[in-house]
This record gives sequence, C-alpha cells and structure tokens, in this order.
Amino acid sequence: MSRGDPEADRQPTRSGGSTDRLCPPDWFVETANVSDSDIRARFEANWPGCWRAAADLLDWDTPYDSVLSAGDDRLTWFEGGALKPSVNCVDRHVEAGRKNAVALRWIGAAGERESLTYLDLQYEVEAVAAGLRTLGVGPGNVVTLFMPNVPELPVTMLACARLGALHNVVYAGFSADELADRMESADSEYLVTCDGYYRRGSAVGQRNTADSARLRLDADVTGVLVGRLDDDPHLGRDYHGYGALRDEFAGATVEPVAREAGDPLFVLYTSGTTGEPDQVTHATGGYLSYAAWTAMAVLDIKPQDTYWCAADIGWITGHTYGVYGPLALGTTTLLHESPADHQAGGHPWTSIERESVDVFYTAPTAVRSMRQRGAPPSDEYDRSSIRLLGTVGEPIDPTTWHWYREHLGGGEAPVVDTWWQTETGGIVVATLPALDEMQPGSAGPGVPGLSVDVVDGAGDPVAAGTEGTLAVSRPWPGMCRRLAVEARAAGADADSPEAWRYVTGDRATRDADGYVTLLGRDAETIEMDETAVGTAVVERVISSLDGVTEAGVVRVSETGEIAAYVSCERNHPDTDALTERVRSRVRKEVSPAVCPDRIVVVPELPKTHSGKVMRRLLADVVSGHGYGDTSALRNPEVVGEIETVTREEEE
Ligand code: WTA
Repeated sequence: MSRGDPEADRQPTRSGGSTDRLCPPDWFVETANVSDSDIRARFEANWPGCWRAAADLLDWDTPYDSVLSAGDDRLTWFEGGALKPSVNCVDRHVEAGRKNAVALRWIGAAGERESLTYLDLQYEVEAVAAGLRTLGVGPGNVVTLFMPNVPELPVTMLACARLGALHNVVYAGFSADELADRMESADSEYLVTCDGYYRRGSAVGQRNTADSARLRLDADVTGVLVGRLDDDPHLGRDYHGYGALRDEFAGATVEPVAREAGDPLFVLYTSGTTGEPDQVTHATGGYLSYAAWTAMAVLDIKPQDTYWCAADIGWITGHTYGVYGPLALGTTTLLHESPADHQAGGHPWTSIERESVDVFYTAPTAVRSMRQRGAPPSDEYDRSSIRLLGTVGEPIDPTTWHWYREHLGGGEAPVVDTWWQTETGGIVVATLPALDEMQPGSAGPGVPGLSVDVVDGAGDPVAAGTEGTLAVSRPWPGMCRRLAVEARAAGADADSPEAWRYVTGDRATRDADGYVTLLGRDAETIEMDETAVGTAVVERVISSLDGVTEAGVVRVSETGEIAAYVSCERNHPDTDALTERVRSRVRKEVSPAVCPDRIVVVPELPKTHSGKVMRRLLADVVSGHGYGDTSALRNPEVVGEIETVTREEEE
C-alpha cells in the first residue's frame, strides 16, 4: 500500500485535486460492511428498488407499498409504511439482547464520563416522554431544544420522536434573537433548555438567553429546564424541572407513536454562512433509512464499535451521524460537550485512547487546528483502535488529509471525505471505503444509487475537469421535504427521476472517473476574464505549502484586490519568504490573474459555529468596512487581531 508523506510540499493539480490515489489496506477490506464491487451497478440496474436495502435496516410496523411514489404535491419514500423511530434507535436493540451494550457515552467539559446502555436509554426516553406528554406534547407539536451536547439532548430528541412530536434543535451558542426567530418560524410552543454549560473550561449561562427569547415571543411557551451547572436549578414560574419530571415518571411506559413514512421527524435550520438560514424538514421513513444506510456503508459503523462524531448536535451532522444513524445501527456513540479541537490539552487523542475509538468523524477545520497545535509523538497516545476516519463540512486539502491519516489513522486507516448538506439529510458524495480508491482532496463519486453531476449556469452537465456547480440528478431517500416538493413539481417520479435536478450551490469539478472535487460555495468565486475560479482552488494551493495550515482567500468587490489570509504551524515561517512562495505557487498552479495582492498571516481564521471559514468577514475587514456583528462566530476573539494585522500590513 502506498503511503502519504505528510510533510512534503505537494503539487496539486489545476482543479486542486492531488494526483495520488490510495487503496484501503487489506485488513480494512476484510471486515468492511460493504465490499461487493458491483454495488453501484446493482443499484443502477434496480433504481429506486435498490433503496429497499436502506429501509431493510429498520423495523417497520406497517410494511411500505412502494419505494418511491409521486403524490399530488410531493414525492414520498416508502409510502404506506409506518415506523417508530425511537424503537428503531433504542427498544429494538434491547429486545435483541443488547440491553447492556452502551448506546451513549458522554464526556463532559469538566472531564465527567457517563454511560447509558440501551436499556438505560430506553428508561430515560420513556420517562422524559411521559413528562413531556403531561405538559401537552403530542403528535405534530414542535419542541425546541436549546442545549449543547449533553445526554439530555439526544434523550429528549428521542422522547419527542416517541410521542410523534417534531424536535427543533437550535445550536446552543445562538443569541436570544436567533432562538426566538427559529421558534417563531417553526411555530414551536415548547422549549427545553438548560441553566448553562461549560465551554472552553468556563461556565456559560444559557437560561438568560432562553428567557430573553421568550420575552420576544407572542406565544405562550411551556419551558423545561435541565440543570447542567446546578443539579437543582431555581425554576421560577417559567420552567418545569427536567430532573423532577424524569424522576416523577421514572419507570413509566410510553407506547411509541407509529409514524407514517412521509410524516416529519424534525425541523432544523441550515447553518447559513451566506444568506438567511432556511428551515429544513426531514421525513421519518426516508431520512432514517438513509441515515442508517450511509452510516453503515460510508462510515462503516458496526454495532460493536465506539464511534465518535465530533459535530455538535445543533447541526445536521450531529443529528444524522451523532444520533440517528449510529443509534439505528445499535453502536456506541460518543458525545463530547467540547468540540474535538477543544478537548483537554487541545487534542482528541486522550478520548481516542481512553474510549478506544474505532471510527472518528470531524470537520477539516478541527483537523487543521489540531495540525496547527502539533500532534504528540505516536508512542504517547495509543491511536491504534482507529479503523476509519471521516471529514465533513468543508473541502479538505490534500496536505491536511495526509496529516489526518498519518497522525490519527496510523498512516493506514482509510479516510472518507463526505460531502452533503442539511437539505440532503445524509452523505451524497464520498468514497465507499473498502471499494473506492481514495484521492486526497477529492471527495469521490456519488454514493450508490445517486446520480451526481457538475452543471453550468444553464443546468447542463459540463465536460470532465471543467468547473461548474454540483447537482444531484435524481431523488434519494434522505432528501428534505422541500426537495421532495420541488422534484414532484418538476415532474419527477420513479419512472422519470431525471426530470428533476437539485442544483446544490457548491462549485465543483468532476474528473473522468466521476470523482468530485469541491471548490467552495458558488458565491465564493473570483471572476476572471471569461471564467470564475472558486476561492477554494486558490486556498488549496496555498495550504499545500509547507508550514501553512489554513488559508482564506477573498476578493474586495470595489477594488478587485485579492487578499489571502493564512495561518501557519507553530514554528511559522518568515512572512516575506512565505509571501513569495504563495505568489509563485498560485501563479504557477492556478493563474497569475488570481495571484493574491496581499498575504496576511493570522493566528486563526474566523470560523462559524459549525466550523466553516467565514470569508465574508475577511472581505469586510480587508475592504475597511468594519465587520459588524460577530455573534455567528465560534472564535470572535480573533477578529480584533485580524483587523490589527490587516491594518499594520497596510502601513
Ligand atoms: C459544505 C453539513 C466540501 C458545502 C453536512 C455544503 C463541504 C455545506 C463538504 C453544507 C465536503 C459539506 N467538502 N464542502 N466534504 N461537506 N460541505 O448544511 O458547502 O451545515 O453546501 O451540512 O457545507 O453545510 P451544512
């Protein structure tokens, strides 16, 4: 097997992909969940019937009549079928004799460690469901959950699902206005929140934010308060105590509500780096089937695994691959209160060793920040339990990809770069780890059964290697309701799936083998004479330079000036020399037309809460407009320094 050399200055190709292709090791292939090499052909030959394979991973109370049916106003996957999501994620594993298997292991920011077996989880979910039921929660109600990664969050999600209510998880770092907007637009009259939580070692209050949001709402909201900082928080008139409800209903039996396949399971707002956040609703049958199938096929999750998805449950990644996918498969899902790059000591190795993590799934930003801090020597922490690594959320450059595989995967574990969105419900583009060669920097082909294309402005597929917009040219079970409606309006059904195409808004190229390389959002492009180049293409070339961990490239619209913000490894190189290297590499690898006018070295790039580089803010800083509100940022403290360095550099 060939191995990557993480330290080398790599030579990316024009589209930013690296030329090396790597095979998974034999030991991985031997035990992989999916290893039949004709799976894509079989799925193609039997579309949409192939998706029975996903539905078969679940228990259905009523079998479905058709795999994909076209109703008057939308498509429905597994129409006629009824299922109980909380039974699929909890009770059935207990009944199958796995009551003592750990479902959820939680590591608190203060180092606490709690384990819930599947039996414990069932007990908790039923008690909380019984409590919520007495407060009036029932089928179709929307319950807003405003909490960080604490065990009460997945428990309450599953309790809502048990009652046939929809959860609406709002990321815990959002402001009162953002919470109120999301409650209002989701028509939610129930709020489960907490007194506070720990972030980067300090206690953060949460209740005041929730209280301010409630003041803004006209609706009479029923509140439930989890005591995270204080076991017995003062409740006042506005809240019922989560702990008291749970204790009161401990041991209760709550008959789960069977949901029709097309009934909504939850609502969630997109992370919205550009524009307003959109409300996304996912249907019970299609979403859950697709979550389980992709977790099984792409992330290779097995029931005996300890699996760590480092995303916050406040985002879709935490929903699909932190909660629903892994629990449907009956595995142990590891939940951390702190993000992967903010663990004690700033790295995830302690938990990987202590919990013997098999599969680790995180964002490229987190990997870059680990890389920036530097990995401990490999004999210091045992990372040999890792079988598979995954990334999601942003393009990963080849240099970071190789670093990840070397330092977390022992140089051998396969890495899957998974592309998808809140709207897609689950992974759309990725390699199947035992079957497809890995190409660092390129996410890979569409998952089996999906038809992935790169299209031009008119919606027509472009030639291999040409930049365009990523599109999915056929429905799939994880598609959100809005897409199911749009597909139907466009005339798509089981016989004419190609009548509709979902244009994703992400720039990409596709090579002759069908491998897709993502180049950032459509909005993040630099116009050249005749064409546009994704800023990610330039960023990737810069990040491939030795010593550089991350780059954010923006163009100031008024002046046309291109600025590259660069962060470096600890022993960071001489800035003048770096500037020269950046310029000459961009000129050579991309085009002199996009060579940055300014290179600004900063300690960290500004990131959103979901870990995406906030380029809009860099553009504001460089254009001197002032950067306004920074509450959407995960690291607002770096903005002042970015501004200072930018201005100093101008002098
Ligand atoms: C970006 C997260 C490159 C992309 C699951 C997409 C990626 C947006 C990748 C959706 C990837 C996600 N490579 N870019 N592997 N995965 N993205 O809704 O721009 O929070 O449109 O869903 O993240 O973000 P969202």
